[in-house]
Amino acid sequence: MKLGTPLSPSATKVMLLGSGELGKEVIIALQRLGVEVIAVDRYDNAPGHQVAHRAYTIDMANGAELKKLIEEVKPDLVVPEIEAIDTDMLAEIEAAGQVEIIPTARATQLTMNREGIRRLAAEELGLATSAYAFSESLNELQAAIDNGVGYPCIVKPVMSSSGKGQSRINEPSDVKKAWDYAMSGGRVNRGKVIVEAVVEFDYEITLLTVRSLNSDGDIITSFCEPIGHVQEKGDYVESWQPQQMSADVLQKAQEMAEKVTSNLGGRGIFGVEFFIKGSDVYFSEVSPRPHDTGLVTLMTQWQSEFALHARAILGLPVDTSLRDNGASAVIYGGMDEQSISFECLDIALAEPQTEVRLFGKPESFLRRRMGVALAVSISTDEARSKAKKAAAAVKTVV
Ligand SMILES: Nc1ncnc2c1ncn2[C@@H]1O[C@H](COP(=O)(O)OP(=O)(O)OP(=O)(O)O)[C@@H](O)[C@H]1O
Ligand SMILES: [Mg+2]
Repeated sequence: MKLGTPLSPSATKVMLLGSGELGKEVIIALQRLGVEVIAVDRYDNAPGHQVAHRAYTIDMANGAELKKLIEEVKPDLVVPEIEAIDTDMLAEIEAAGQVEIIPTARATQLTMNREGIRRLAAEELGLATSAYAFSESLNELQAAIDNGVGYPCIVKPVMSSSGKGQSRINEPSDVKKAWDYAMSGGRVNRGKVIVEAVVEFDYEITLLTVRSLNSDGDIITSFCEPIGHVQEKGDYVESWQPQQMSADVLQKAQEMAEKVTSNLGGRGIFGVEFFIKGSDVYFSEVSPRPHDTGLVTLMTQWQSEFALHARAILGLPVDTSLRDNGASAVIYGGMDEQSISFECLDIALAEPQTEVRLFGKPESFLRRRMGVALAVSISTDEARSKAKKAAAAVKTVV
């Protein structure tokens, strides 16, 4: 593996498609290796735009625009950070052979639609999942629930993330409301939902799984310590690492993660989500990229999930070992405003081994993730309370 000099003809060029808080950290990790980074997002001054060599604002769901930019910039690697991309165009570009898509165009195609990845995991690879069905109308949804999915269940648009359009059905009178909500909340209104039986799990984890090259140039799979997290309305609010779990349950999850990631292929980090109930492990979904709950690794690992991604995609060796027990807690905007300010950071940062990352998003929404508090401590419980305290101390103002 050879890395050139940025902004020169020898540069190794990486293009990020999506430049939010996760992309920003991947870019910083790449910058540290002297990689030339081109950040793309759908709005100006996105977090990753602010730390890249060059920034572009385009509609990444528009295949023609995407193709034009990639042909103009000629990156060595294209690294998708979000799902809302014309992934069929990525497949076309990959097939042309000039540019490598991370991890693979097929992985981005399968995971952008819940149907693709669920059918692969459950029906082709035989992984245990919640009972599920796909529905394209209210009648089909009701029939799916009556014929096997049962109550309670969760409805999600097939094309959505961060809990958008997702709601829980406890009884028959909730069905229509959930259908209408899903139709209004999907990323692209495909008129299709997945309905899943609720798994009454003991806890849920993200198992960060890395596919990287060993010294012989062969792909190897390594795992980070499991990350526990709490979700509200389908969006993560708190995470910690390591999540305590028995060795045999962890091994089961690792085997499932290995199966699904080796099928998706390529190099890079994957966030594999599981529900754990007793000794049962249910596959939920997978991101072929860093995972939001993995922000905790900025403090807990020798190489954060972002550094791991950077190294893996460049063909460099990785080290997934844990350094400290730690936790992250989300800082929300708390208001719909442009250009907000953050106060009381001195209070938030007063405790040793506590840090805050502010993403620099130009616009705040009530429930938009604007930053994260991070802490390490002797136990994950202590780290959680430190991180939550720090996040709560930060005040947003206009
Ligand atoms: N079948 C289920 N049983 C129990 N809980 C579920 C189920 N499906 C989803 N959840 C809960 O909702 C959360 C979000 O679900 P999911 O990961 O499918 O949505 P998402 O929109 O992709 O969210 P994100 O993009 O934040 O990962 C899960 O982490 C879990 O807490
Ligand atoms: Mg999820």
